[in-house]
Amino acid sequence: MLSRRSCRNFKDKNIDKDILEDLIKIGTTAPSGSNCQDWIFTIVPTTKDVAGLGVKIAEFFKKLNKMSKNTLLRKGLTLFGNKKLQFYWENYYESVKETIELYENQGIDKLFHGATAVILVGGLKKSSCPSEDALLATQNILLGAHSMGLGTCLIGFAVNAIANDAKLKKSLGVNENEAVYSVIALGYPNEKFKGLTVRKNIQPRYLSF
Ligand SMILES: Cc1cc2nc3c(=O)[nH]c(=O)nc-3n(C[C@H](O)[C@H](O)[C@H](O)COP(=O)(O)O)c2cc1C
Repeated sequence: MLSRRSCRNFKDKNIDKDILEDLIKIGTTAPSGSNCQDWIFTIVPTTKDVAGLGVKIAEFFKKLNKMSKNTLLRKGLTLFGNKKLQFYWENYYESVKETIELYENQGIDKLFHGATAVILVGGLKKSSCPSEDALLATQNILLGAHSMGLGTCLIGFAVNAIANDAKLKKSLGVNENEAVYSVIALGYPNEKFKGLTVRKNIQPRYLSF
């Protein structure tokens, strides 16, 4: 656990399908609310497929950047109490624009960091705790992959795009009654970490009665 790090530099080598499927099995050893086991895993198995997914996600962010550039729209939404677009403009617009330009002009993948596979971890919205279930399976996959010598990185940007674009969601085969709670980029790491994870020293609270 201490040596697992987010990997953002991968070798150009696809992961065997059997290994990807083993990782799904490792995911399903996680607990789930009411033991419902309503996970839905989608494997994006090769570099080519990951690039295809990247293009779809980039389309979403291009639309979002175009909208957030519109001052009238931002201010109008803010007036009606919706500050999300303004927040995006202030915090993400520039870096997302750079990421898209880097990919389109130089083929540098700052979204999936050159990963050769992706796993979408989803579940049924009607389950008792679908997000918890998905994230527990996700952590199992991250640790399982690390123990097999694979690198992983969670991609929150992709989760956001899928959650906010019904067309994109449908095009990935995700039904209306399902949601994707995590997107894991994977591959053989092309970097070695010098250090173990460094974490804040978080003190627990105690309750004694
Ligand atoms: C919910 C979540 C979303 C994340 N999204 C991204 C992302 O979109 N891109 C990225 O490079 N890293 C992403 N990360 C990785 C974090 O930046 C990383 O876990 C954190 O910096 C700690 O580093 P470590 O994983 O090496 O310990 C995400 C992590 C989490 C938990």
